[in-house]
Amino acid sequence: MPVNSSSQDSSFRGEILAGFLAPHPPHLVYGENPPQNKPRSQGGWENLRWAYQQCREKIKALKPDVILVHSPHWQTVVGHHVLHVPHLSGLSVDPIFPHLFQYEFSMDVDVELASAIAEEAIQEGLLAKKMTNPQFRVDYGTIVSLHMLNPDWDIPVVGISANNSPYYFSHDVAQDQMIKLGRATQKAIEKTGRRAVLAASNTLSHLHFDREPDCPEDMSQEHVFSHAQYLYDMRVIELMRQGNLDELMAILPDFMEKTFAEVKAGSLVWMLAAMGFPTMPAQIHGYGTVIGTGNVVAEWDLTTARVAEVLTR
Ligand SMILES: [Fe+2]
Repeated sequence: MPVNSSSQDSSFRGEILAGFLAPHPPHLVYGENPPQNKPRSQGGWENLRWAYQQCREKIKALKPDVILVHSPHWQTVVGHHVLHVPHLSGLSVDPIFPHLFQYEFSMDVDVELASAIAEEAIQEGLLAKKMTNPQFRVDYGTIVSLHMLNPDWDIPVVGISANNSPYYFSHDVAQDQMIKLGRATQKAIEKTGRRAVLAASNTLSHLHFDREPDCPEDMSQEHVFSHAQYLYDMRVIELMRQGNLDELMAILPDFMEKTFAEVKAGSLVWMLAAMGFPTMPAQIHGYGTVIGTGNVVAEWDLTTARVAEVLTR
């Protein structure tokens, strides 16, 4: 496996193949019943799980060197951190839903790329740090998104933390930091020659119910939190489908405020910035609610966009 080595042709400039908006409700892993997760279910949330299955096939076909994920549930207060241990394993438990998610994780980390991201982030004027604790317990946001995109875990990963502190100051500063982090990520991928897939581990609208049915996967109890929240999700998704990222970026602060949207953690903006804010239409694989929150699985396939660009020259 080409991890942490110079197996890449150094003359090849790396590229981002595709980006996925990859929300991380632990319910999706719970519904899948993989051997790594202890709790057992009767299924549930199929529309989102089937959406992820389509992404898995796409990722298999793309054969990336690495999958990078930015997760809101690895929160860092000082700076942006990257996983920097060649192999991490252990038990990860969701603190809110321990009855749904107790997952034995095992992942290879592309530490060469992680180093490059930290260095480029510092060049962008950000605080950045490498996480070198071999006992580190990886957060469920990182694990759920990666499991749902690649349950075989046969592709190395890079995990990036969410530094939420800028949001205490202002939305603009926070977005600006995520744009810089995205740019740093893109430069690091290019310099290290990686063929990379990105994953933004974000739910859209995030107001949710605070009571769970006796059977968590009872789909007769699953529905949108409110009509207003649903309509705002649809507005955001329509802008993605149109490739209208200017308007999407313009409404994000209001979307975050009105729906408590999890994109506030910055993963989506990080990914869009790394991809250079592509104006191609996003492919929507599926939308569904989890305890009332709005989740969309969306894809930006940059390889298709590049082919189309060449053909129209
Ligand atoms: Fe979350």
